Amino acid sequence: MVELIKTREELSSLLKKTSLAQGLGLVPTMGALHEGHLSLVKLARNYADKVMVSIYVNPLQFGKGEDFDQYPRTLETDLELLEGLADYVWAPNYQDIYPSEPVNIPADSELANKLCGLSRPGHFDGVCTVVKALFDAVQPQYAILGEKDFQQLIIIEEMIKHLDIPVKIIRAPIMREESGLAMSSRNQYLSEPERKQAAAIYTNLQAIANKKLSIEAAISNLSQNKIKTEYLEVHWGRLFFAGKLGKTRLIDNIALDFS
Ligand code: PAJ
Repeated sequence: MVELIKTREELSSLLKKTSLAQGLGLVPTMGALHEGHLSLVKLARNYADKVMVSIYVNPLQFGKGEDFDQYPRTLETDLELLEGLADYVWAPNYQDIYPSEPVNIPADSELANKLCGLSRPGHFDGVCTVVKALFDAVQPQYAILGEKDFQQLIIIEEMIKHLDIPVKIIRAPIMREESGLAMSSRNQYLSEPERKQAAAIYTNLQAIANKKLSIEAAISNLSQNKIKTEYLEVHWGRLFFAGKLGKTRLIDNIALDFS
C-alpha cells in the first residue's frame, strides 16, 4: 500500500521511524500523473530502496494569467496510479512546504534567461524555491527529474551544485504518446482535434534533428497545424520547442547528433 502523508509533522515522524539506509528516492511532481511521471517512479527503484512522490502545485512558479487555478488536481486517481510503484506520497499544503515565509532561491541567470525563462519571468526561481524546500524537508539521496523539462532539469542540477545539496539527480528520458506527443499534465486541456495537431510538434523536431527540415519550414508547418511557435532553438546540444495550441502552452525537446 502506498502511504499518504500530508503534514510536515507526519513527514518528520515517517523519516525518523523508517530505516532509509539503502536510500530514499524523491520524485517531485505537481500531480495529475501520467505515464511520464510513472516512468520516473519506476526509474527511482533502480537506485533507491524507498520511493517517495511529492504532489504539490506550487503557486510560486506560476505567473499572473497562467493556469494555477485550472491546473488539474486529481489526488485520488494519482494515488491509484502509484499503487505498487511508490512507497510514500507526500501531498503537502502551502504551510507544510513553507512553514515560514518561502526563502527565495534564484535560478542561475545564465541558464534561466532564455527559452521558457523569457516568457515566464520568475518561473525558475519559483521552481528552485520549491525544490530546495522539498529537498530540505525530505532529504532524499536521489531525485528523479524528467528531460521533458530539460531547462528545469539543468537549472536544478546547477542549484544543487551551487548550494552543495547532497542529492544525486537522475535524468529520465521523455515519455511520449503513440503519436509522438510528449506526455504532459497540460495535454488534458487539449480537445481531440488539438491532440492530433499537437503530434506535429515531435514530427517536426525529428525532421529537423534528421536534417530533413529547416527551423523556418518547421515553424510554418506548425502554424498550419494551428500551433504558434514561441521558440524553436538549439541550446546545450538539443533542439527546444515551446508554443501554443489554442490556450494550451506545450513544450518539447530532442537531442541533436552532431557527429
Ligand atoms: P510536473 O510537470 O508534474 O513534472 C514532474 C516531473 O515529471 C518533472 O521532472 C518532469 O520533467 C517529469 N515529466 C513530465 N512529463 C514527462 C514526460 N513526458 N516524460 C518524462 N518525464 C516527464 O516539473 C514539475 O512538475 C514541477 O516544476 C516540479 C519540479 C515538481 C516543481 O514544482
